[in-house]
Parts: sequence; structure tokens; C-alpha cells
Amino acid sequence: MNSFIYDIPTKVYFGKNQLENLVSELKTYKKVLLVYGGGSIKKSGLYDRVIKFINNAGLEVFELFGVEPNPEIGTVRRGVKIAKEKGVDVILAVGGGSVIDCAKWIAGGAKVEFDAWEFYSKNAPVLSALPIISILTLSATGSEMDSCGVVTNPETKEKVGKLAQPLYPKVSFLDPTLTYTVDRYQTACGSADILSHVIETYFSKDDDLFMLDTVMEGIMKTVVKYAPIALENPCDYEARANLMWASSWAINGFILGGKVKAWSCHPLEHQLTAYYGITHGLGLAILTPRWMKYCLSDKTVDKFVSFGVNVFDIDKSLSEMEIANKAIEMLSNFLYKTLGLSDTFEKVGIGSENISAMALGASKGRFIDGFVPLYKEDIETIYKMCL
Ligand code: NZQ
Ligand code: ZN
Repeated sequence: MNSFIYDIPTKVYFGKNQLENLVSELKTYKKVLLVYGGGSIKKSGLYDRVIKFINNAGLEVFELFGVEPNPEIGTVRRGVKIAKEKGVDVILAVGGGSVIDCAKWIAGGAKVEFDAWEFYSKNAPVLSALPIISILTLSATGSEMDSCGVVTNPETKEKVGKLAQPLYPKVSFLDPTLTYTVDRYQTACGSADILSHVIETYFSKDDDLFMLDTVMEGIMKTVVKYAPIALENPCDYEARANLMWASSWAINGFILGGKVKAWSCHPLEHQLTAYYGITHGLGLAILTPRWMKYCLSDKTVDKFVSFGVNVFDIDKSLSEMEIANKAIEMLSNFLYKTLGLSDTFEKVGIGSENISAMALGASKGRFIDGFVPLYKEDIETIYKMCL
């Protein structure tokens, strides 16, 4: 096991009625940039509550609204402009991962003189950022408790993540009741995303740490147990609460331990979003079982056996390969039948026309050094398996 530093500066308020603490958290600031999406927070009444708390805290408020799912660099630029011109000293992101990610890039962009895209195109470091407070409304990405922001540049067809210590939210409000209005589709996609974050870490080429493997199996079982309940009854507090806390812990660094972060399905999926704008969790759901099939071999089978036995309770007495194949089948059933997500590229409007370009983009011209190394040709094969 490798050595590591674990340092998460995010203060979490979890549960019902915690939002009232927003007033005390805001009081030390003067000007807030409120960042939100396409209107779900207005429909649910959350916007009015937040504005009331901001007023009670005595802050001047500026707004950036209309952050799109898979936020675009142009929206980041709009936010940076407001933040700089108005002298904003805190950002309040209210929404799902897209809103929080966009807020992170704005927070970094507001502190530099160059264009925010250079955080990626020139690999410019994020040395400081405006403080971010997040109010999470969708359990999925874990952006509420991680240091990553993912942004798309439609001109260059690139979707990229930037990780930096200053990008951790300073405070995050996790009230499961705020996810009651999330529809079936987004609940399913969010659950697939949480599951994928754990799978990307669980299937690792590093030596495993039993303690963390067991935690990961627990998080995966949590999603398998509670996502169907949330789909059946969107206002089930226990289900929404379990999914929300699973979302944060799937990606806040804890389960990574000393493992080298080497994800495979995410880089493949980011290409799908960049080219076709599909929902992140949906792309992962289509890709993950195919990626697993591609990786399964005598060398990798042990990990699939642990996954199958400990997450899907598959009979231990079967042969290793039988367990592994059954595990992939049970995951597929969960994603496509229980969650109801589409199972092929064709069903979501993706053809074979960009496979070569997407494979090149995912491999970044080299290869993905993941659970199993993936070169451009391997990635093309996995994409073709999804057609
Ligand atoms: O825009 P609004 O009107 O708010 O509607 C959103 C949006 O249409 C809606 N929604 C959110 N909360 C709702 C709600 N509708 C009803 N009730 C609520 N309470 O859901 C739709 C999708 O929202 P979005 O924020 O796009 O979803 P998600 O949280 O899945 O975020 C996806 C983005 O995060 C990135 C993805 O690539 C994608 O761009 N990721 C970020 C990561 C990170 N920061 O660490 C890691 C992930 O792997 C991922 O890449
Ligand atoms: Zn993800």
C-alpha cells in the first residue's frame, strides 16, 4: 500500500433543516455570486428560501443562472466576469454536479488574469480560489466534497476535469429532502455515476487494502439497495439520505487510500459527452459492463470474484469465471432493468462515426494506465462493444 495524505477541508451540514445554518456561514462575507441551473431550484421553492437566508445574512447578491448540464466554458467565463466586476467574495452553488463544477472553475478563474480555459489548455495551476459554499440537489458526482470541476469546451470538443486543493467547497449542505424532486431518469443516472466512482477505484491495479475494499463494497451495496427504493418512492428519506452520503464518500478521496487514481470508464465517457452531450451517468452505465468484459481474464478474475460475491451475493461455490461473468450480468441487469437506463449507443443516438477520434481523445494520444492498460485500439473495441 502506498503512503498518502488525506486532507479534506469541506465542512458538511447533513440532514433536514440544516439549511438554516447558511445564514451563519454567509455572515462573514459581503458579496455573494449565486450560481444555479436551468430552473429546478425555482420550481421547488429552494431559490426563494436561499434568497431569504442571503438577505438575513446581509449580503449583496449577484446571480449566474442557466448553468447547463455538462457546464460549458462560456458559462464559466460569464461567471468570472460577474465575480471580478462586482468584487464577489464568496460563491454559493445551488444544484447538481454541473452547477458546483461550474462554480469551482469560476472560483479559480476569478483569482487570475488569464482565461479560465488555460487551467486546462496550459495546465495553469489553481493556486487560489474564491470560497465555495454548495447546496447539493442531486446525488451523483460527489462534487460537493471533492476538489474536481469538470467543464466542456464545445469548440474543441473537449470535456476536462481540473483537480486542485483550493477547489474543495468550504462548506456543503447535504439535505436529502432537496433531492425529492429529482426525476426517475436523473436518479438512475446519478446512481450509476456513484456506482462507477467506486468501481473505478475498486478495480485498481494497485495492491488492495482490505479495509477500504470492504467500505467500497458497502457503498456499492448501498446504491444497489437504495436506488430502486428512491425510484419507487422519490420522497423516501432513508433512500435519498443513503444515496446522498454514498455520493460524497464515493469520490472524496477516502476510498482511494494510497491507490494511484487511474480511472478507465470516465475518460471514455467524457468523450461521449463532448461529442454527443449525453448524460454522464448514462454513458457510464453503457460503458462499464463492456469495459468489465474487456478486462476480464485469468489475471484479473480475482477482483471480479470479490465484486460478485460481496456486492451481488453470488454463490461462492461456482467457478471463478462463472462468478465473474455472473457479476457482470447482475450489474448489467441492475443498470438496464432495475434503473431502466439504455443499454446501447444506438438507443442514445451514438453511431460509429466518431469512434476513432473519441478513442484518441480518451487515450490522450498515449494510453490509459488503469486496471488494465487501454491503448487507442482497446478503447475503440470497447466503444464498438457498446454500439
Ligand atoms: O439545471 P437544473 O434546472 O437545476 O436541472 C438539473 C439538470 O437538468 C436537474 N436537477 C438537479 N437537481 C434537481 C434537478 N431536477 C429536479 N430536482 C432537483 N433537486 O438535473 C439535471 C442534471 O443536473 P447535473 O448537475 O448536470 O447532474 P449531475 O449532478 O449528474 O452533474 C453532472 C456533471 O458533473 C460532472 C459530469 O461530467 C457532468 O458534467 N462530474 C463531476 C465530477 C466531479 N466534480 O468530481 C465527477 C463526475 O464523475 C462527473 O464527471
Ligand atoms: Zn462520474
